Amino acid sequence: MKVLGIVGSMRKEGNTGQLVEAVLGAVKETKPKIRTQIVNLSALEIGPCQGCYDVCAKTPYKCVVKDDFQGLLQKMEDADGIVFGAPLYFPVPSRVVALCERLVCLAYFHDMRGHKGTHLFEDKPCAFISATGGGDPLEVFRYLFGFAMSMRMTPLTIKRFPYYGVAGRGDLAKDEGKPFDGASELGRFLAEAVEG
Ligand SMILES: Cc1cc2nc3c(=O)[nH]c(=O)nc-3n(C[C@H](O)[C@H](O)[C@H](O)COP(=O)(O)O)c2cc1C
Repeated sequence: MKVLGIVGSMRKEGNTGQLVEAVLGAVKETKPKIRTQIVNLSALEIGPCQGCYDVCAKTPYKCVVKDDFQGLLQKMEDADGIVFGAPLYFPVPSRVVALCERLVCLAYFHDMRGHKGTHLFEDKPCAFISATGGGDPLEVFRYLFGFAMSMRMTPLTIKRFPYYGVAGRGDLAKDEGKPFDGASELGRFLAEAVEG
């Protein structure tokens, strides 16, 4: 079993990365046999969808654009659960947009061209992390939630504000929302969901 963390911040050691790490740490603590891996989108070159309406329209979940997307797609396919982290960047970093755009296009053409079989990430559990400078993370969560729905994934929610996931605002150590506690809870849920 594997859980993949995708950090959408341009800062590798930023708040998004720290919280995604905390979720993965809780996954391992809950189910030590689950392997975890983290990928920073800041280290990858993933360009926009070219709107070619060609390869992905004809072959399910194949994209014609050759860049780091192909490697990440494989990692996502291999994972049994995925943590997506994105900071509030009005509303999310352009690398997150590029990744979602490329994936959603593949899911869209799967249906539009009447391909048979399940979607690549169908029912795969996923969890969301966000970080803001103090602003409301809801816009980020709604973006990620819509993306996950398009991919037919199963987003996990938690019973604490802001419910869609865990967000850190400003200095994480001083954040009264206790984002590290939330990240631990989310990690526990994700570990159970992956094994279940
Ligand atoms: C381009 C950009 C736009 C941002 N827009 C907002 C915003 O609208 N509201 C807010 O509270 N913080 C905003 N921030 C601050 C980041 O959300 C915040 O610093 C967050 O911790 C960054 O994530 P990181 O620590 O993982 O790098 C913005 C930062 C950048 C670079």
